Amino acid sequence: KILGIVRMSKTILVTGGAGFIGSHTCVALIAAGYAPLVLDNLGNSDVRVLDRVERIAGQRPGWIEGDVRDRALLDRVFAQHRIAGVIHFAGLKAVGDSVTDPLGYYDNNVHGTWVLTQAMEAAGVHALVFSSSATVYGETDPPIAEDAPCHPTNPYGRSKRIVEETLGDWQLARPHWSIALLRYFNPVGAHESGLIGEHPQGQPNNLMPFVAQVAVGLRERLVVHGNDYPTPDGTGVRDYVHVMDLAEGHVAALRKVQQAPGLLTLNLGTGVGHSVLQVVQAFERASGRAIPYTVGPRRPGDVPANWADPSRAAEVLGWRARRGLDAMCVDSWRWQQGNPKGY
Ligand code: NAD
Ligand code: UFG
Repeated sequence: KILGIVRMSKTILVTGGAGFIGSHTCVALIAAGYAPLVLDNLGNSDVRVLDRVERIAGQRPGWIEGDVRDRALLDRVFAQHRIAGVIHFAGLKAVGDSVTDPLGYYDNNVHGTWVLTQAMEAAGVHALVFSSSATVYGETDPPIAEDAPCHPTNPYGRSKRIVEETLGDWQLARPHWSIALLRYFNPVGAHESGLIGEHPQGQPNNLMPFVAQVAVGLRERLVVHGNDYPTPDGTGVRDYVHVMDLAEGHVAALRKVQQAPGLLTLNLGTGVGHSVLQVVQAFERASGRAIPYTVGPRRPGDVPANWADPSRAAEVLGWRARRGLDAMCVDSWRWQQGNPKGY
């Protein structure tokens, strides 16, 4: 038994590991004694992130440039490395793009996951952590627990839900597999060093990067998408979760899937909702800058409010988000100020 533990591989394949959440998870994996091996096609990321991860964590992740849909490449990767488990971040995530290019989204997110799963099966690797999203719930009254009905409202959300359902079928057919489906709420913030963070291409879709770009002077003002929602101040309410808390949640989920077979579906959120205006105020405190804004119409497809019931992740993983909105804004600002043009 002791020999078995000594010989256990610490190499974790991290698809999409050059991206926002993946890069932060590499830092957390290294801190926990794992050796991340990143596979990424750089479609939405910059390879220089690996230098930064090395600076923070003192160890460089392994690196393979390539696409998760490339079965021959995956077979080579699994043959050349003794991989203990896979964290699968690689995917497309822009809701609006998914509406104009649904098949591109299903191809990348759904087909990509199937190719990866088949390559894992062929290689005898049976532990998988998958990036799902709270968007699978659609409009449901918060707090949202994992057994809430799922009614995704756009192709991106449906691509995540299809993956969840098909991985569920797969786990039933292969009961020795262990799969965690992690439904993230709204990941924001950056590593506290300010060396890695989120750098969206073009105009940000999401609130926090937009606010950060206004604070640093890259954009003139925020447009608040509606202030007539049935929420305390009329603006949309979301469960913002610090990306390092999320990263630590992945390490906890990985440990769990390595312990026992099964299928786990877990929310990763704080359980607390904040409005758009609360985020603006917290960012003003963090940055010492004014964030000018105007109020525009509601954004089509937005729900008034959502936040997680995060109790299952606490019970099953012993994981809880520890960092609050102020830390999210302070860390996001440190990254934004130090890297206004990204890497
Ligand atoms: P990101 O775009 O920063 O990271 C995704 C990474 O995957 C990028 O580096 C990209 O280059 C890579 N990639 C995309 N398709 C690929 C492919 N076919 N082969 C290889 N690499 C590929 O996004 P993120 O915010 O870090 O999100 C990571 C995962 O979490 C995604 O699956 C996303 O859908 C999911 N998620 C994100 C959020 C969020 O708000 N950020 C919320 C819920 C779920
Ligand atoms: N908002 C603004 N102005 C902006 C951007 C956003 O007022 O410029 C508002 C939105 O209307 C919403 C809140 O800020 O009320 C948060 O919006 P985000 O775009 O940051 O986040 P969403 O909750 O809309 O979507 C995010 C991810 C999706 C994911 C979803 C899961 O972007 O990919 O969470 O819950 F599917």
